[in-house]
Amino acid sequence: MCGIVGYVGRKDAESVLTVGLQKLEYRGYDSAGIALLSSGEIEVRKKAGRIHDLINSLSSYPLPKAHIGIAHTRWATHGRVCDSNAHPHISQRGLFAVVHNGIIDNYSLLKERLQSEGYSFSSETDTEVIANLLEYHYLKEGNLLEAVLKAVKELDGSFALAILFKEDPNLIIGVRKDSPLVVGLGEGENILASDPVAVLPHTKKVVYLNDGEIVFVRKEGVEFYDFSGRRIEKEVKVLEYDEEDAEKGPYPHFMLKEIYEQPRVIRANLERYVRDRRPVMLRDLNLRKLLLNKNRILVVAAGTSFHAGIVGKYLLETYAHTPVEVEYSSEFSSRKLATDSRTLVIAISQSGETADTIDGLRYAKKHGLEVLAIVNRPESTIARESDYVIYTNAGIEVGVASTKAYVAQVLVLTLLALELGHVKGHIDDKELERLLDDMAGLPNQVEKVLALDSHIAHIAERIYKSTNVVFLGRGINYPTALEGALKLKEVSYIHAIGYAAGEMKHGPLALVDNKLPVVVINPRSSVYELTVSSTHEVVSRGGKVISVITEGDKRMAELSAFSIYVPSVPEPLTPIITIVPLQLLAYHSAVLRGVDPDKPRNLAKSVTVR
Ligand code: F6R
Repeated sequence: MCGIVGYVGRKDAESVLTVGLQKLEYRGYDSAGIALLSSGEIEVRKKAGRIHDLINSLSSYPLPKAHIGIAHTRWATHGRVCDSNAHPHISQRGLFAVVHNGIIDNYSLLKERLQSEGYSFSSETDTEVIANLLEYHYLKEGNLLEAVLKAVKELDGSFALAILFKEDPNLIIGVRKDSPLVVGLGEGENILASDPVAVLPHTKKVVYLNDGEIVFVRKEGVEFYDFSGRRIEKEVKVLEYDEEDAEKGPYPHFMLKEIYEQPRVIRANLERYVRDRRPVMLRDLNLRKLLLNKNRILVVAAGTSFHAGIVGKYLLETYAHTPVEVEYSSEFSSRKLATDSRTLVIAISQSGETADTIDGLRYAKKHGLEVLAIVNRPESTIARESDYVIYTNAGIEVGVASTKAYVAQVLVLTLLALELGHVKGHIDDKELERLLDDMAGLPNQVEKVLALDSHIAHIAERIYKSTNVVFLGRGINYPTALEGALKLKEVSYIHAIGYAAGEMKHGPLALVDNKLPVVVINPRSSVYELTVSSTHEVVSRGGKVISVITEGDKRMAELSAFSIYVPSVPEPLTPIITIVPLQLLAYHSAVLRGVDPDKPRNLAKSVTVR
């Protein structure tokens, strides 16, 4: 949600910042802006629209040459999408320029106070308040660090800030509370950003800021402070990603690239978590002890990660015999918990920065519960604040719609359930080995599904003009129906709902007519026959069935207008295979409707607001 980037060094700041913005565009893309400090003046250009609109406007209204600046790509929270609400925001006397990711909860109170001190405002944003508050304190204190400390102490809410100060042409200030911020350490240059992807083109050496920390970034080096003004030392980390990980390569969209990366992601996780036909996650004795001591699991997650959590519920209950509840993280933190110390919370998140899930994790810890995180991004807030972490090793996911991260989450949950079940004695060696052998075949099976791409594109041509699509699944593929529907609606804007197939007859069947495409996910499984019956109920009311079924399944094919055959895999592994054609269906539907699937309207990746 909103991307911020700041640069100081020898290079042309405008080009570094525009490239940085493009890398961060997945975080928000309704407006963008740049502020440069040149010849003692702060110059700002900002514009509602995409980053390329800002770049185009720079040719008619160029910025001066500069080697220092800050920039922002916005996902609007306070204030409409318009040029004046775009960041950066400048303080009244022009001393400070600020870009901000987050929300200032008490901004109207602060604004009123500043207005009574003679400050006027030219935007509806909470961010302009920060710029003026900094100026107010600086003019009173005459000391920059003091002014920053005073200002941040007054701010309630979440904020990552990059600040440009007119009186120092070699300084960018970064501040972090509840929104991510990282500094990249280069040679004679340093770069501040919301996400390491914007740092990667320049350096792999980074320092992550924690909450309550400030950084003074200069060309020659960086200094860190806490919110009480004490100097602190920070550990330098080396990024494990390569620059190409954040590039589209030959693919027209990140979403397609990431769908095609899934075999590799599965292999990476199998290599990491399986040795000699045994899962090895619980070789960490502390994690093993933790899981063995718990008699109940609460999964907290949002969106796609929530759907992975439901798959995890089926698997953990089946193999580990541990009862599991799955909750939206946005609901979890606002209710009373009936838990005890034997309840484990599992927080699932691709980004590790989703504000609702961070709240859920903190709420759980406040209630004395231990938290295991299943997270894709190392060094993320969720990874750092949880008691234990299992990484999903999907690499950088840029497409707003999560694809490879979901498959990685499901795979990791499958391995965890199998290993826990084995350790607890509910699965014998033979069953474990058989399932692990089947898992080893998954990368090739997913490749076979990817080879159906043009067939799926052809099906998309038949549904992309629909106004509604229903997805039905049962048992372990009920969450596949939810996820398939989410993918389609978020990238193509076609209204889609996912339903438990057996629940259809309790109401939603009324929606069925001869215009309604109904996607039925029914690979061979213990609930196959029941789902065939649900399909009959749809077909006899004129519904057009698109089925995702096991190779060779003639019965379902006869009921279907279109069939997508997936390779035969054991039931617990089916969610990994069946979601892939639905990701492709969503992707092609979006492209046919002229929507950029990487940047669907109103959305942004990494939802860092509540
Ligand atoms: C949908 C999607 C979102 C995220 C959700 C949680 O395609 O990507 O629903 O799954 O915002 O994000 P993470 O997993 O980063 O916590």
